[in-house]
Amino acid sequence: MASFEPRARSRPRSGGASQMAAARSPKRVVPAGAAPPVIEFRGVSKRYPSGDQGLDQATFAVNRGEFVFLVGATGSGKSTVIRLLIKEIEPTEGTIRVAGHDLEEITRRRVPFYRRNIGVVFQDFKLLPGRTVYDNVAYALQVTGGTRKEIRAKVPDILRLTGLSTKLHNYPDQLSGGEQQRVSIARAFVNHPPLLLADEPTGNVDPETSIDIMRLLYRINRTGTTVLVATHDQTMVDKMRRRVVELSRGRIVRDEAAGLYTRDESTREFARRMRSPAVRPPGVIVDPLEEPVLEEEA
Ligand SMILES: Nc1ncnc2c1ncn2[C@@H]1O[C@H](COP(=O)(O)OP(=O)(O)OP(=O)(O)O)[C@@H](O)[C@H]1O
Ligand SMILES: [Mg+2]
Repeated sequence: MASFEPRARSRPRSGGASQMAAARSPKRVVPAGAAPPVIEFRGVSKRYPSGDQGLDQATFAVNRGEFVFLVGATGSGKSTVIRLLIKEIEPTEGTIRVAGHDLEEITRRRVPFYRRNIGVVFQDFKLLPGRTVYDNVAYALQVTGGTRKEIRAKVPDILRLTGLSTKLHNYPDQLSGGEQQRVSIARAFVNHPPLLLADEPTGNVDPETSIDIMRLLYRINRTGTTVLVATHDQTMVDKMRRRVVELSRGRIVRDEAAGLYTRDESTREFARRMRSPAVRPPGVIVDPLEEPVLEEEA
């Protein structure tokens, strides 16, 4: 599995600048010897050039292997959190660390290397329209220097995992919304990144397909990948019963570990619970995603 790169070769920073950064960065609270959180926001604010406040003094941490929902009304700052994490935008205040690395110290030149550790899934899929399912996924490996041998080995595996084996040669416009989203998840996960971010991954699919998408994200989480999902989908969040961080006008107003399902749940049990009889249309098989799973489940 890919891991976060060690700190970029340290570039000499001017004493003044690093002192300023140190003064701005609140002290870390990670016990000695413990693995740092995968995501750590400390007093993070983002004010856009327009004057809009995207995030306001947000502090939270996500540990390795967690599955966390980021919820909140439209404009509350969910996408801002995701965009800050992939270093598409910079905070105006505060410190963001990913696997212990201060994002402020990652130079522009090294951002593409940093991003290799993060899979990102968007509401609008962002697939390449002129490429087949296979090529969309293979492309993610090509751009990160994957060899042809690697591509031939990994792409069919991930397409099987995501239930797309029969759609290899289809173009995105020949797929349903749910299938397109599964391609984008396959593309985000083909490198097995330690962190997966999803911004409204079920925003463009129907409720039944949303369950498949969430099941896939849960399955990915069970391989050890930390997953952060920004969503409006309250029904889904309630059913998943995972940790919820809620934003309101850029502020964190709730951080709740929903402890109701703390026991280890297989993806099959998970899907069964999600498809409660009340929402399952009659005649639909409980577990239509019959692709092989990544791990043995009891
Ligand atoms: N590029 C931008 N320029 C100016 N303001 C922005 C920009 N992007 C976001 N904002 C503002 O920042 C705030 C947070 O926006 P953000 O997109 O993070 O919210 P969100 O929770 O993802 O909303 P939604 O649920 O609608 O996707 C909003 O007030 C928004 O108008
Ligand atoms: Mg958003």
